[in-house]
Amino acid sequence: MSSEKTNQSWGGRFSEPVDAFVARFTASVDFDKRLYRHDILGSQAHARMLTQAGVLSEAERDAIVAGLDEIRGEIEAGTFEWRVDLEDVHMNIEARLTERLGVVGKKLHTGRSRNDQVATDIRLWLRDEIDAILAELDRLQAGLLQLAETEADTIMPGFTHLQTAQPVTFGHHLLAWFEMLSRDHERLVDCRKRVNRMPLGSAALAGTTYPIQRQVTCELLGFEAIGGNSLDGVSDRDFAIEFCAAASLAMMHLSRFSEELVLWTSAQFQFIDLPDRFCTGSSIMPQKKNPDVPELVRGKTGRVFGALTGLLTLMKGQPLAYNKDNQEDKEPLFDAADTLRDSLRAFADMVPAIKPKREIMREAARRGFSTATDLADYLVRKGLPFRDCHEIVGHAVKYGVDSGKDLAEMSLDELRRFSDQIEQDVFAVLTLEGSVNARDHIGGTAPAQVRAAVQRGRALLAQR
Ligand code: ARG
Repeated sequence: MSSEKTNQSWGGRFSEPVDAFVARFTASVDFDKRLYRHDILGSQAHARMLTQAGVLSEAERDAIVAGLDEIRGEIEAGTFEWRVDLEDVHMNIEARLTERLGVVGKKLHTGRSRNDQVATDIRLWLRDEIDAILAELDRLQAGLLQLAETEADTIMPGFTHLQTAQPVTFGHHLLAWFEMLSRDHERLVDCRKRVNRMPLGSAALAGTTYPIQRQVTCELLGFEAIGGNSLDGVSDRDFAIEFCAAASLAMMHLSRFSEELVLWTSAQFQFIDLPDRFCTGSSIMPQKKNPDVPELVRGKTGRVFGALTGLLTLMKGQPLAYNKDNQEDKEPLFDAADTLRDSLRAFADMVPAIKPKREIMREAARRGFSTATDLADYLVRKGLPFRDCHEIVGHAVKYGVDSGKDLAEMSLDELRRFSDQIEQDVFAVLTLEGSVNARDHIGGTAPAQVRAAVQRGRALLAQR
């Protein structure tokens, strides 16, 4: 049977064309066409290397490189015809090159396989995605530092168990998010090193008989290292899994952040206002202003966790080396990267626009006996053992609950009912300012520490 009726790239050994449904079922072009730029970059580097290796002439190389540039132009202009019968992005581009150049186009695939080609493409693509994600992370973190600086003195309740615990500064709370995102940044930078190793040259699985010069393609493509084993090079997708793991952690952080924004914008908290452009209304309840962006980010987190689980599962049963299973790596990976990047972008845009309602935050901190620990610490300084102080303050709080008074609202006489060690100087520690200012050490909530942490954060961003 002529190769016209079967796939042109591998039709030779087949005696009947592939079933029409199977052709669609096995094709990946609908989603892997998004790798076209990186596929072309990889092919151009490969062609240049083949010339240095004496496999292609300079004229052949130039025709291939220019032809691929023009194909990129066609794709970007929307005039390229993607064909499902050509399976994937690699064969679509190669077939078009051959259509344009004739026999020279058919020489491009010398000394490589789609197996090392696709592994190279995904790594090149993911490297760019990580860089774009890191840029959004930078922007979000810079916004957090800015807001933390403005809100270094703003007092809010700090929570444990979502019950008022101790007063903190809003700036300090924001810097907790900064800290988490710094670790996400570190993880992605570290992951990028392992993404940035070159599988090209592994060919189908065993390497190739041509005198390829892998250090040439490595340098042309900006890889940091050459993969040391051809079987591993075409097979493992651990770099994609690792990215999804780092992305999952980052999304988990954004999801928690989202949860707080949702709570804080509620009528029950009213700690912050989000500008209208980040919210939507309800079609039935006219009063509603819903924090859609944080809710969606919280919701989208599941997709990224799903990608991680999907890729781990995809990999776990595969024998060496390449298996078609690996074609399934792309959609979850693309989706995880898109989701993280878009979520970070939305947050980077939204965070500088957060409007804290300082009076309400302060009032909430004042109401919840948030300086009870400060009173206990005060009694410790007067010489009592901490456990006794804890008990004394417990009685005072109970009295406060029954009488509707916060600790700072009680008279000295009232307070002295619980301990005669309490004196006039107690009121300095029962104030919210006294409480936060007293936590004046690295990592503490005192406004001075928040300002210092903002400076450290700026230095960190500057050295990236
Ligand atoms: N579309 C394939 C993938 O994404 C490319 C590699 C196919 N290789 C093969 N021998 N069928 O993995």
